[in-house]
Amino acid sequence: MALAMRVMSLLPATIAVMIAAASWGAHGGASDEASALLALKAELAGSGSGMLASWNGTAGVCGWEGVACTGGQVVALSLPSYGLAGALSPAIGNLTFLRTLNLSSNWFQGEVPASIGRLARLQTLDLSYNAFSGTLPSNLSSCVSLLLLRLSSNRFHGRIPVELVYKLTSLQIFALRNNSLTGAIPGSLGNLSSLNRLYLYENHLEGPIPHELGSMGGLQALALQDNRLSGVLPHSLYNLSSLKSLWVGHNMLSGTIPADIGDRFPGMEALDFSSNRFSGAIPPSLGNLSALTVLSLEGNDFIGYVPSALGKLQSLTDLHLGDNRLEANDSQGWEFITSLANSSQLQLLVLGNNSFSGQLPNSVTNLSSTLQGLYLGDNMISGNIPINIGNLVGLTELDMANTSVSGQIPESIGQLRNLVALGLYNTSLSGLIPSSLGNLTQLNRLYLYYGNLEGPIPSNLGNLKNVVAFDLSTNQLNGSIPIEVLKLPQLSWYLDLSYNSLSGPLPTEVGTMVNLKELILSGNKLSGTIPASVGNCTSLVKLLLDNNLLEGIIPQSLKNLQGLSLLNISMNKLSGSIP
Ligand SMILES: *[C@@H]1O[C@H](CO)[C@@H](O)[C@H](O)[C@H]1NC(C)=O
Ligand SMILES: *[C@@H]1O[C@H](CO)[C@@H](O)[C@H](O)[C@H]1NC(C)=O
Ligand SMILES: *[C@@H]1O[C@H](CO)[C@@H](O)[C@H](O)[C@H]1NC(C)=O
Ligand SMILES: *[C@@H]1O[C@H](CO)[C@@H](O)[C@H](O)[C@H]1NC(C)=O
Ligand SMILES: *[C@@H]1O[C@H](CO)[C@@H](O)[C@H](O)[C@H]1NC(C)=O
Ligand SMILES: *[C@@H]1O[C@H](CO)[C@@H](O)[C@H](O)[C@H]1NC(C)=O
Ligand SMILES: *[C@@H]1O[C@H](CO)[C@@H](O)[C@H](O)[C@H]1NC(C)=O
Ligand SMILES: *[C@@H]1O[C@H](CO)[C@@H](O)[C@H](O)[C@H]1NC(C)=O
Ligand SMILES: *[C@@H]1O[C@H](CO)[C@@H](O)[C@H](O)[C@H]1NC(C)=O
Ligand SMILES: *[C@@H]1O[C@H](CO)[C@@H](O)[C@H](O)[C@H]1NC(C)=O
Ligand SMILES: *[C@@H]1O[C@H](CO)[C@@H](O)[C@H](O)[C@H]1NC(C)=O
Ligand SMILES: *[C@@H]1O[C@H](CO)[C@@H](O)[C@H](O)[C@H]1NC(C)=O
Repeated sequence: MALAMRVMSLLPATIAVMIAAASWGAHGGASDEASALLALKAELAGSGSGMLASWNGTAGVCGWEGVACTGGQVVALSLPSYGLAGALSPAIGNLTFLRTLNLSSNWFQGEVPASIGRLARLQTLDLSYNAFSGTLPSNLSSCVSLLLLRLSSNRFHGRIPVELVYKLTSLQIFALRNNSLTGAIPGSLGNLSSLNRLYLYENHLEGPIPHELGSMGGLQALALQDNRLSGVLPHSLYNLSSLKSLWVGHNMLSGTIPADIGDRFPGMEALDFSSNRFSGAIPPSLGNLSALTVLSLEGNDFIGYVPSALGKLQSLTDLHLGDNRLEANDSQGWEFITSLANSSQLQLLVLGNNSFSGQLPNSVTNLSSTLQGLYLGDNMISGNIPINIGNLVGLTELDMANTSVSGQIPESIGQLRNLVALGLYNTSLSGLIPSSLGNLTQLNRLYLYYGNLEGPIPSNLGNLKNVVAFDLSTNQLNGSIPIEVLKLPQLSWYLDLSYNSLSGPLPTEVGTMVNLKELILSGNKLSGTIPASVGNCTSLVKLLLDNNLLEGIIPQSLKNLQGLSLLNISMNKLSGSIP
């Protein structure tokens, strides 16, 4: 203004007024801001652009939808989830007083204009959940006041620009999740000394994790999972004593977990090393991370015993140890199960596909009643299923498939009223199917195939009102097919009773299964005729009745099965012509 005054005295009055207006505008005056906002609006279409009806004229910008002012200047533009589509106009760079720009959850596309770098006062930039593309604009590095930078769930590609990061020294949250970024994580990130959350997950980043990240002393959350990172975790990361969550799963990282990890992160709540190439033993000191709720080590090459010190983790909810080479060959090896009974919040215990062997300890039935998923499949576990398995009343999924468990299925299984999926296939289980199974009315998948089960199919399995897949194949079951099973109202994926010793006729009630896609009854001793009502099962894609004692003609009604792609009625005593 002082300059304008001085110039004014040397010029005719009308020109002086024009200059005054222009210089007022150059400092971010209302009309200039209006024209920038209108230029933004001009690029927008989509269902939401109607919500910007108040953006008209050249005055009163501070009252426009989504606009907030301080001292007459536009300091915030906040239009999240407005259904806006189109490009972000370079005019955004003219709103130089902006401190907050939140355009998250819209349909913006195209590149972020380089003029964004003119917003030196910008503290919050949230462009997440859009379809922005191109590389990250290196001009963002001029937004030196940024505290929160959220660019997740867009289509950015290319590298994370080195200069972008080390100039933004005030940055506290940096989120680039779910883009298509490539190249290495720049070590310069380590200079972001104020950063407390760094989210780079779900990209295509590669190479090692730079050791410089270990200098972000205040970091609380580091999420690098679902990339292509390789090499060992730099030891410097174990100096980040403020970390509450460390996610590096689904990469190609290797090396061992240091024995003293339990002394490093007093506030650690979630630790994810899953689906990498980590090896060695699970350090007992993990049991000292007393705030830990999630520990995920699955899909690696860990060996040895599971430390029973994990039972010290009072807040633990999710323990994922599946797909490793962990062992338990004696009572000492299984002790961890006994101690985990102390983890009273436990919801998921995943131990599948390891080298656990021997008898599963009875103490498994003392695990918390909060337990929802117990996965023990693909191990060499033998012996009986503990008789009180029914104590685990919170279970929704129980998997002991592909093991050597033997003996009878305990009657108490009927107490697991919340069970949705039961996988006991490919085991050595024998004896009768307990009729209490019929109490599991929430069950939608029942897999008892490949065993030595015998006797009849209990008719009260007809109470499994939610079952969609029912597989008792390849056992030694006998007796007839209960009508109740054929009337299961939700049965739709498949019903497989093949390769047992079932006898008697195929009941006409088979025709009630109008949603069933696959009916597989091969390899039994079913006799009598094929009921015409099979033609009512119009969803059938696969119908296998081969290797039985069926006789008589092939019913004409089979031609109603328009979607059928596999039909096998061979090896019976059928006669007549093919319809
Ligand atoms: C943005 O500012 C530049 C330079 O001050 C100016 O030339 C341009 O017209 C402005 N754009 C809009 C849309 O206001
Ligand atoms: C401009 O916006 C004001 C305030 O919302 C509204 O009253 C007026 O009708 C609008 N004018 C036009 C031409 O849309
Ligand atoms: C982007 O930054 C470069 C280097 O700082 C600068 O020369 C250029 O003018 C900026 N572009 C815009 C559109 O602000
Ligand atoms: C942007 O707005 C959305 C919706 O209100 C909000 O959830 C999000 O936290 C905002 N972004 C920032 C960085 O504050
Ligand atoms: C990832 O980003 C894309 C593009 O914005 C989006 O459509 C998708 O829903 C996002 N995925 C997740 C898991 O958030
Ligand atoms: C971090 O900052 C220091 C001092 O400004 C500088 O010398 C160094 O090169 C920066 N490191 C990286 C990796 O950018
Ligand atoms: C971790 O911090 C200690 C103490 O500040 C320091 O001596 C050590 O060099 C650091 N280790 C790494 C790998 O950065
Ligand atoms: C950490 O755990 C180890 C092994 O369980 C134990 O020997 C050590 O005393 C624990 N340290 C602390 C500080 O509790
Ligand atoms: C049992 O497992 C432990 C730990 O992996 C191993 O050291 C030991 O040799 C094994 N013992 C037998 C009898 O297999
Ligand atoms: C579990 O609790 C029992 C009884 O409180 C205790 O004796 C045992 O040492 C605890 N186990 C672990 C691993 O903390
Ligand atoms: C199954 O339900 C029946 C009838 O409600 C009940 O008598 C029986 O005790 C239940 N069995 C189990 C194991 O829960
Ligand atoms: C089922 O099939 C039989 C024999 O083909 C037929 O008589 C009957 O009407 C069918 N029922 C329904 C509900 O379609």
